[in-house]
Amino acid sequence: MIDIHTHIIPNIDDGSDDAQESIAQLRAMQDCGVRGVYLTSHYFRGHYQYSRDEYDAKFNALKQLADKEGLSIVLMPGFEIFLQSDILIDIKKHSLTMGHSPYILIESELNGLPNDFYNNVFPLLRAGYKPILAHAERYVSIMKKPSIAESLSNRNVYIQTNAGSLLGLYGEKVMKTAWTLVENGWTHFIASDDHVRGAYGVQAEAKRLIEERIDAHTADLLCRLYPASIAGGDPIPYQYVFVHHSRPRKRRSWFKRIFA
Ligand SMILES: [Fe+2]
Repeated sequence: MIDIHTHIIPNIDDGSDDAQESIAQLRAMQDCGVRGVYLTSHYFRGHYQYSRDEYDAKFNALKQLADKEGLSIVLMPGFEIFLQSDILIDIKKHSLTMGHSPYILIESELNGLPNDFYNNVFPLLRAGYKPILAHAERYVSIMKKPSIAESLSNRNVYIQTNAGSLLGLYGEKVMKTAWTLVENGWTHFIASDDHVRGAYGVQAEAKRLIEERIDAHTADLLCRLYPASIAGGDPIPYQYVFVHHSRPRKRRSWFKRIFA
């Protein structure tokens, strides 16, 4: 598995505040079968704002500690970017991408995607970035109408779902929405969004449940193959579930209905 959404770098956002706890969490992830992890610290103008040099210094310090502790899990840089107008300036200036890929993890107001949401996404697409909407199932507007996730992926926005949402850790409504996204093929990634606030295990458990409720292939796509494609540079399809509708029966003409 590869976890594409975590807050494990200490003292940069609302995630970990202790390097040793971060190391313990990375070890727990490794023991869970996670081979690679993106350390996607919040980037939110006015709240969690930093230069790329500041991020890299903290990333490298954790990486050195992980190496010293003999961990084999691969650490990769990343950011969870709060979408605002003109955020493209910051994305370009600080290279706020996932590793060296064009993928960017984005978030917005959880109490409902703002009306100008797509207006803020479009310049990112035009500039060649590939946005992934973090924890889509937690947005009130998507809970009310899960097919918004499908509309977004039709407009080149990838969707990420939190493993904990599938387990019910954010409540019933979020869980229902998360499963609707998975069952309809409206999500591309399952990730932990781990903030180092408890045991790590959600990712493996969510994968097991998807294997049980959907199938092993879908679980592998969402937890390993598509996440690996970010670093590998392989294309990730926006649509990967194709529903074959049976052809509607042709209505017979009144002449045939009477004389057949
Ligand atoms: Fe997050």
